[in-house]
Parts: sequence; C-alpha cells; structure tokens
Amino acid sequence: MRAAPHAASLPHRRAEAGGLDVRRLRADFPILHQQVHGKPLVYLDNAASSQKPRQVIDAVAHFDSTDYANIHRGVHSLSQRATTAFEEARDRVQRFLNAADRKEIVFVRGTTEAINLVAQSYGRMVLNLGDEVLISAMEHHSNIVPWQMVCRERGAVLRVVPMNDDGDLLLDHYERLIGPRTKLVSLVHLSNALGTINPVRRMIDVAHRHGVPVLIDGAQAAPHLAVDVQALDCDFYAFSGHKVYGPSGVGVLYGKAEILEVMPPYQGGGEMISAVTFEKTFYKGLPGKFEAGTPNITGGVGLGVALDYLSGVGLDAAAAHEQALLAYATEQMSRLPQVRIIGTAKEKASVLSFVVDGIHPHDIGTILDREGIAVRAGHHCAQPVMQRFRIPATTRASFAFYNTKEEVDALVAGVRTAIEVFA
Ligand SMILES: Cc1ncc(COP(=O)(O)O)c(C=O)c1O
Repeated sequence: MRAAPHAASLPHRRAEAGGLDVRRLRADFPILHQQVHGKPLVYLDNAASSQKPRQVIDAVAHFDSTDYANIHRGVHSLSQRATTAFEEARDRVQRFLNAADRKEIVFVRGTTEAINLVAQSYGRMVLNLGDEVLISAMEHHSNIVPWQMVCRERGAVLRVVPMNDDGDLLLDHYERLIGPRTKLVSLVHLSNALGTINPVRRMIDVAHRHGVPVLIDGAQAAPHLAVDVQALDCDFYAFSGHKVYGPSGVGVLYGKAEILEVMPPYQGGGEMISAVTFEKTFYKGLPGKFEAGTPNITGGVGLGVALDYLSGVGLDAAAAHEQALLAYATEQMSRLPQVRIIGTAKEKASVLSFVVDGIHPHDIGTILDREGIAVRAGHHCAQPVMQRFRIPATTRASFAFYNTKEEVDALVAGVRTAIEVFA
C-alpha cells in the first residue's frame, strides 16, 4: 500500500538568527508571488482563510492522480491506498492536537459542522426545559446560532459571558453564570473579530468544578497556538482545514472518547453503520458513528499534510513571528490619529481589527485592494461583537507566519492613503 507523500520529513525552517526564515517559507506558497492591480500581493486575510503551501497542493494533486478511490469499503488496491492515506491523516490530527486516541478525531466539513454536531447530538441529549448553555460575547455566529437552534427546540436558555471594552471576558461574571442549570459551556479560543486569546484552560477548570463539559472553538487558535487537548482538558475542540494552511470543506471535531461514546449519531447513512435491517440499525464505534456518507477524502489527506507542514514550521516559532508583526502593526497603526483599534486585550494573537474615523471599512478595504493588499471588511460573522462596540463593521488585517514587516508597512501606508483620499 502506498499513501500520499507527506510533509513529516520537512526540515525545521529556522533562520540562523533563531527566528523563522520567512523568505524561504514564502517560497513554499505559490499564490503569494503575484501582483494585484499591478502591486505585489500583500495577503492579510488569513483569519478568513490562510493559503496553502506547495507541499499541500502537490500532495493533494498526487493523491487525486494516483491513489483516489472511495474509502473503507473497497477491497481493491486503490481503495485500500486511499483508506490508508485518509486514516493516516487522522493520526496526524491526533498528533497535532495531542489527543489520547485516534478514535477521538472526527472528520467534519469544518468548525461550523463540528459545533452543529455537538449541538444536535450532545445538546439534544442533555438539554431540557430551563437548562442553560453558556457562550461568550465574542463568539463567531457558528458558535451562537447552533446553540440558539437547539435551545429553542429544547426550551433551554442561552447565556452569554460579557466582555469589557478591551475585549477581555469578565471572568467573575463567568463564574457567577455557571450554575446547576448549565449543561454546556462553548467558548472561542482566539477571537476572529478581536484577536483576544481567552484563558480557556482556567475557564475549563471552572466549568469542570461544576461538572459542566466545555467545547472550544479553535478555528482561529489551531493555526496560531500550540493546542494540546489533554493539557487543556477540554471535552470538545473544533477547527477547520482552510485556516491551518489546508483545504476547505474539511475540519475536525475532537471529543473525549467517553463523551462521544454516549452521544447519538448526528447524521444517518452509509459508513456510520455496522448492520442495517428495516427494523433496526447498529452503529459503528468511534469515530465512524459520526462520519455518515462519503467524507471529503482528498481534503482529509490534504489536512493531514498541512498539519505536518505547520508542525514542521514550528507553532512556537510561527507564533513568535506573528506576535512581533501584530505588535509592530498595532504600534504603527496607533500613530494614525484617525484610527481606533478594536480589541486591545492583554493576550492577543494575529488579528488587528480597526475603524477609521469617517471612513466605512468597505471603502478602506477597496482602497487597500487597489494597493494589492487583501484585508477583510465587515462584521466578521460576529455581529454581537460589533453591537458591543457600537460599530457596524471593522477592517481586519490578520497575519500568518509568511507575512513580513514590509507588508505591515504597506498596510499602514495604504490606510494613510485612504485617509488622505477621504480627507
Ligand atoms: C472563531 C471562528 N469560529 C468558527 C468559524 C467558522 O469556521 P468555518 O467557516 O470554517 O466552519 C470561524 C471562521 O471564520 C471563526 O473564525
């Protein structure tokens, strides 16, 4: 059996000086080397989707060209090779998260589907009239709406941990909000709208003292922070492939085996059964029970390669570089008197959200695009965050390890241009 080539053997790419060799790393990302509107592309929309290294692009192309077939069911060679590659990807995810067991890794479409799975399976199982689900004020819509849906159905109540003007959660309120009616806590690890890193380890401890399980939305954290689900002791952890330098349409739900075991399946169909009659169906064990239908096979393989690539870069080295970029960008942007940074928490990573007096974020985004700079303007699927700060939208620059100080300079110059244009 032969599986797709992988990045496990990638050299650790450190510059002699001890930091990242960003120039060499950038060479791995073909898409970055292009001009947009006649200017070199400056890609600062990584919180929406990061770009893929050649190692992922090549591995996916190789898999589709040589090994692709439907998995798990086939006796023929291609199906066996594809199954091996897909299941090896599960092992890579397990290593990346330091999960105790590979059966705790469920492949899904992305963070959104992972949270919906927990809401529809675990949520419907435990929530009754008057019970509570606790989330925070800085959640992405995908960690709000699924809970609203299941709470409405079960007569349960959604409670929200508030935050201060910096974008820090109010932990004393959190402790007061958890009570005997709380059945689940669901928190974002790293806010996509504000950049806040929440003290999830501490918050999980508090919840567990009350016997309440915790889901962590790791969509933004997985690409920027080293995640160890056993050290965190979270009950569920969700993230998406397209934000960790991998393909879209694939993601992961990690769940502690003892909880996943007792949860009912989320969807029914092929692949998730061991036997079916018209009278009764016996479900597979973990993780198959939660993987109904043909999964995103190629995506799963690509995700595994992306995670090995990221581990090869080194999450700590990447985080240090991104932290330096964020600090520099924050300092430079703060010098522009019209600019107000939204999200000034003490612990932040990778995200710089800001508003400019008198200029709509969409206009900033459009002017930056003409300079070749890709940022996001809008509510970032976090409308309650915008309501909290009484703004309609922000402009958001979000960094990856392949970004440079020169790109931050281009961003600041672009915002200065926008201010002049609208003066
Ligand atoms: C914090 C957070 N949670 C959840 C999501 C949803 O991720 P996906 O669209 O990949 O399911 C995102 C996407 O931006 C996010 O930033």
